[in-house]
Amino acid sequence: MHTEDFPMLKQDIIYLDNGATTLKPYSVIEAITDYYSNYSANAHRGDYDISLKVDLAYENVRSLVQKFINARYPQEIIFTSGATQSLNMIANGFFAPLLESNDEIIITKSEHASNVIPWFEIAKEKNVQIKYIELDDDHYVTLKNLQKVVTPNTKVIALAGITNVIGDERPIKEICQFAHAHNIFVVVDGAQSVPHLKTDVQDLDCDFLAFSAHKLCGPTGVGVLYGKVELLEHLIPQNYGGGMNETFDNESSIYLKSLPTRLEAGTPNIAGVIGLGAAIQYLNQIGMDNITSYERELRKYLVDQLSEIPHIEIINPESDSGIVAFNVDGIFAQDVAVYLNKYHVCIRAGNHCAKILKNEVGVSNTCRVSLYFYNTKKEVDYLVELLKDKNKILEEML
Ligand code: ALA
Repeated sequence: MHTEDFPMLKQDIIYLDNGATTLKPYSVIEAITDYYSNYSANAHRGDYDISLKVDLAYENVRSLVQKFINARYPQEIIFTSGATQSLNMIANGFFAPLLESNDEIIITKSEHASNVIPWFEIAKEKNVQIKYIELDDDHYVTLKNLQKVVTPNTKVIALAGITNVIGDERPIKEICQFAHAHNIFVVVDGAQSVPHLKTDVQDLDCDFLAFSAHKLCGPTGVGVLYGKVELLEHLIPQNYGGGMNETFDNESSIYLKSLPTRLEAGTPNIAGVIGLGAAIQYLNQIGMDNITSYERELRKYLVDQLSEIPHIEIINPESDSGIVAFNVDGIFAQDVAVYLNKYHVCIRAGNHCAKILKNEVGVSNTCRVSLYFYNTKKEVDYLVELLKDKNKILEEML
């Protein structure tokens, strides 16, 4: 649905790599162009009309994001360069100062690198233990398996809302209830969930949430760090500079501004934030529930057909999300992607930055189709037709 809104789809391509990044609708591109063409100025610094217009536009996006994820206050929304920066800020600015030797961080083996490596670094630095929730036979997280690894030393559970290879949706609300009853914080990597599912941080009751604009039809280089205000107050800035300080003096005393500005040092990605606002308005018009149900139907349509092909093994047949990971028997995943590219079909192949997942799944590389609401059944049919004939793949792949 809504394919006509995307200029990229005027090209002869079938874009099935939405887990990596999504296409941008005209409204997002126009909002960014409008800022650069008609009211280009810095934010929070000028006393002239154009600059005030920028301030209003920038802060209006903060309110849009607040409503989009149902945060309590606008100051709980911090603009970052993306989910990766948000997760690093949470890990290094909030948890590194808090954690003590022998404390435990719980993650899973299906996390993306951005929700693994920052914790590994802290673990080394602070002599903290990393523990993994054992995944079930479908590679899912269950509350029961979480309960098995929690101890009185557990301080934080960090996990994706939806993972980027298995595409499983985690029971975040139940995890938060259990974690909070044991004084454990919960950090959610929402990079693959926020674009596809209605997210209500108050209902989930997660402590922190990270996501990127570019995976929800917005621009690259901008994202969001959500945190409960009482926690963000304790998050130590990882960047110091202009905009975030009230004043400083020649005795090296620094007085910082209040939230959210305190955590947004330097000139922000103003065009990016404005583009994010346009993306959220666009998704709101379609309706997040419509997006979720459309994607689920399309996923089922794809999986039902792929399941009929004997040389295809689907790694995550039971997941609900638009992510379908598979392999073609005896053919290296990247070769399949190169073959599909000859027919202008864009998928991703490899380990998808989830480098410890291979120990769970037993394969290092997979082909990954990741759907979004602008994909169609016709595109799925075309993909399936290309994958049906293994001899054709072998003949044409290189
Ligand atoms: N994290 C993105 C992906 O899974 C880039 O493709």
